[in-house]
Amino acid sequence: MAGRNDNSPEQTAAWRRLAGRRRQAAGLHLRDEFARDPGRAQRFSLDLERVFVDFSKNLITDETLSLLLDLAQQRGLGDRISDLFSGREVNTTERRPALHTLLRAPDGIQEDGIQHDGIQDTHGIQDTHGLSDAARRARQERDRMFGFVQKLRAGEVRGASGKPLSRVVNIGIGGSDLGPRLLVEALTEFRQDSPDIDFVANIDPFDIERVLGRADPETTLFIAASKSFTTPETLVNARRARDWLRDSGCKDPGRHFLAVSGNAAAVEDFGIDPERFFRIEDWTGGRYSIWSCIGMSAAISIGEDHFRQFLAGAHALDSHFASAGFSTNIPVVLGLIGIWHNNFLDISAHAVFPYDQRLERLPAYLSQLVMESNGKSAGADGAEVGVQTSQVLWGGTGSPAQHAVFQFLHQGTRASSIDFLLPLTGGHDRAQHELLVANCLAQGEALMQGSTDAGEPHRRFDGNRPSTTILYDRLDPYTLGMLLAMYEHKTFVEAAIWGINPFDQWGVELGKTLAGRIAAELAGDEAPGSHDSSTEQLMDKYRSGNT
Ligand code: F6P
Repeated sequence: MAGRNDNSPEQTAAWRRLAGRRRQAAGLHLRDEFARDPGRAQRFSLDLERVFVDFSKNLITDETLSLLLDLAQQRGLGDRISDLFSGREVNTTERRPALHTLLRAPDGIQEDGIQHDGIQDTHGIQDTHGLSDAARRARQERDRMFGFVQKLRAGEVRGASGKPLSRVVNIGIGGSDLGPRLLVEALTEFRQDSPDIDFVANIDPFDIERVLGRADPETTLFIAASKSFTTPETLVNARRARDWLRDSGCKDPGRHFLAVSGNAAAVEDFGIDPERFFRIEDWTGGRYSIWSCIGMSAAISIGEDHFRQFLAGAHALDSHFASAGFSTNIPVVLGLIGIWHNNFLDISAHAVFPYDQRLERLPAYLSQLVMESNGKSAGADGAEVGVQTSQVLWGGTGSPAQHAVFQFLHQGTRASSIDFLLPLTGGHDRAQHELLVANCLAQGEALMQGSTDAGEPHRRFDGNRPSTTILYDRLDPYTLGMLLAMYEHKTFVEAAIWGINPFDQWGVELGKTLAGRIAAELAGDEAPGSHDSSTEQLMDKYRSGNT
């Protein structure tokens, strides 16, 4: 266990004052706050371009918000933001910066540093931290990616038999899967004459066989997407795809592969032509990599212009995050409200419900972003954090979730804070879209108001359940870029308050090591090792094939 943490947020005056407001907060009901204060909704809302955030239905008052803003100052959030954008080693355990914001900065950003709140902007001190080199390398790869995308979409990339490649299978997992998959599915309306795209992530053979079953070996391109190129799931599936090509008579499987990775040597060992290798930099974290060539399959699906709009939307959010004062800064305010709910009101779960079917994958994407980033017990300085860190992030789409899990939200004994996401314009039928809107707004209102009818206990709704509603004009690449960057920065804000490093993920290592050992023992490559009796029993059952 890490040692005591003198840098804990509990040491700040603002944290102590917030702790002192707990009891008072427990006595408040949002219903009364709204009745008392007609300006509440307007005062507790922020907007940026096409996105409007109403956070008035959260369990905050002017006083709590003001103390939370003090907390941000006392935790040096401004410096932390500056560190992120300026390329400092914010990923302390892996001794590297986290420069996903650079991937979406328009060309020439180094010259137009954005000034804000005493932070020497964004990518303005590139010479100290080598940002100009990093930016140049990443842009070169991005341009190569767009060159390839253009050719493929024009039918100019051919397989071993000479036929154009017209189906793409992205093989990757975690950040090398969830981001591209989200984009491809969310932005199908922006596809233009693009190849069909499939995704394979699971080591469960059903996953790849399902995809191979509908693919034509003469016209399929496999993207092996793995930053490390050591992830067993991805390598096993990529080998299976290569064997499938060979078994189908393909003379040159290499023509049906490309790789996106940071590990050139492993890609070469796999036999992928250097021309078909797209490099990502080590400062591109897996769950922050959709902005890099890991987005290849999405770029193939929506094309270069739309992919650039996606990057531009994220950059708009970056500029806002780097320059807006804390009280009007959307990710800062959302992160601070998250801290209040989680650390002071003991709300350990946060749900995301897009009322937008196209964002069905968003909760899964955000689960990785939030829980892999902030599910930590050790502070960035190695000491014990000492306070609760990441909430559980879960969710689903509205309206189906209303008929599945909302019972828990309305009447359960545990509270979950919620984000509702809602497009102002949506589906083909306006009247039907309006029903979607009505359902979304009704849930936020019902959860907040509850019902004062003193009926039978099972019909009672206490209300006072917090939610934020995020409206956007329409779902397009630019807006999706804004939304994803907003959640990235909200995650960063929370990490900065807790004093943890959101850019590593050491917690996944032990399970990986044990999986390797157990696999070797099951295959008979290694003598049986010593395991606990439960694990041994389960291995024996597997070996015998009998339950
Ligand atoms: O095991 C966790 C993880 O490293 C994630 O952080 C990452 O997104 C995923 O695995 C895939 O890693 P890679 O892209 O190196 O295959």
